[in-house]
Amino acid sequence: MSYPECLEKVVKQIEPSPEEREKIGQLADKVWVLVQQSIGEIIGDETVKAEYHGSYRHDTWLRGKADLDLFVLFSKRYALEEMSQLVKKVAHSVAENLNAYVEERYASHPYYTLVLPDGQEVELVPAYRVSSSQEVTTPVDRTQLHTEYLERVLSEKPRLKAEIRLFKKLLMNLDIYGAEQSVHGFSGYLAEILVTYFGGLENLLLAAANWRPGRIFIPPSPEARKLFQGQPIVVIDPVDHKRNAAASVSQEALSKLILIGKLFSENKDIMCCLLDPPNLRVTLEELVSVLNSYDVLVAMAAKYPKLPEDALLAKLQRIARKSSSAMESYGFRVLRTHVTKINGSPAILFFFEHMVQSPIYLHMGPPVWHPNSVEFVKKWASRHLAPIIIEGRVAVLRKRIPLDPRDYLLKALKSYPGFSWEINKLRDIVSYLPQEYYVEVYRWVTGVENWTMCIQ
Ligand code: UTP
Ligand code: MN
Repeated sequence: MSYPECLEKVVKQIEPSPEEREKIGQLADKVWVLVQQSIGEIIGDETVKAEYHGSYRHDTWLRGKADLDLFVLFSKRYALEEMSQLVKKVAHSVAENLNAYVEERYASHPYYTLVLPDGQEVELVPAYRVSSSQEVTTPVDRTQLHTEYLERVLSEKPRLKAEIRLFKKLLMNLDIYGAEQSVHGFSGYLAEILVTYFGGLENLLLAAANWRPGRIFIPPSPEARKLFQGQPIVVIDPVDHKRNAAASVSQEALSKLILIGKLFSENKDIMCCLLDPPNLRVTLEELVSVLNSYDVLVAMAAKYPKLPEDALLAKLQRIARKSSSAMESYGFRVLRTHVTKINGSPAILFFFEHMVQSPIYLHMGPPVWHPNSVEFVKKWASRHLAPIIIEGRVAVLRKRIPLDPRDYLLKALKSYPGFSWEINKLRDIVSYLPQEYYVEVYRWVTGVENWTMCIQ
């Protein structure tokens, strides 16, 4: 099927079914009543009200991905700490009623997630009731204003809801959906306002084809340029002109979207594939043959700190980056790293250019004018490789005693408290992995992603 006809099929796949709407709607109503009752019992203040916001309220959620964002709105008479404690109590009393359990999570301040027996989640978020951006004190207060704005726009142009769902689906397939620190991608709200601004997915992508990171100001204005200079992409929040709604988007996530925009403007049919990518099947033999061609080490954390999932993944990404540069200083070259979970344990994969160290390395000394320069050359003068001068500094070439890269990697990883690591060659452990990992490992080693499979 070709573009744009294929979109209809995808829209049908991602639009919640009538049964799902019915089921989620009933649940939402039931939870709302329980929360409101519990607010009455625990807080006893009629001005405190629960309201749904986010994609459930905007009707822009994807099938099978309903997430209920229930905000508990307080007047400014309450202190933030007090609000959190009260909502915590409400969450626990409602959870008991629903046979659910409560998870405490953190954004700018704590919020409480009810996890129902069937896995469905409801987020209870304490916030202040506001009527304009000047009144906003915690970042989540702004959400009410987002809802007000989107309800107005989407009731005028209901067609945009399907376009927003398509864009969210595209972002998910590109692995750049979500503002979390482990993704650094496009939030649901950012997806909503981008599609709204450009009037649809097609216009958005055609515009993105001409973007250059650091020069994107939506809408363009001299104030935005001044206020947000240096950020990869600036999308002014329509409800708060002092906020960049795209502040979470990394250069990497942005670059992927720009490239997709360029591919799309060359050949629109690619969108059909991007929104409904083919399945990749990989046999153990294919995987082993790929693994035999490249040097990949996998560090699995046998012990790791108890952190929320997103924070843990973000920490692993930082460890991956820092230990790679440590490996570079030991004379290896790490081309890429990848953070994942294997059998529930956090793991970092290191893709090496070569696993044999360079036999010699440059050891730099002080500048010649420095008091220690003479001592340096005396120390090294009797060696086989004599001291040299490079860019005004004394230096010496030293031979390296080659060691197994695993020993160096362990040394690099040792400096992170709370972790203990097991390091193996990926090819040595792959046959012990459950089959469901074959595709993931293959994708990672070869770089194949959904979108690369769609390039003609
Ligand atoms: P969600 O992260 O649940 O997003 O935030 P969403 O729009 O409902 O999208 P999905 O479908 O669940 O993925 C709920 C609301 O919180 C505000 C937005 O107003 C959003 O609509 N929010 C959230 C932000 O302003 N910024 C963020 O980074 C996250
Ligand atoms: Mn949501």
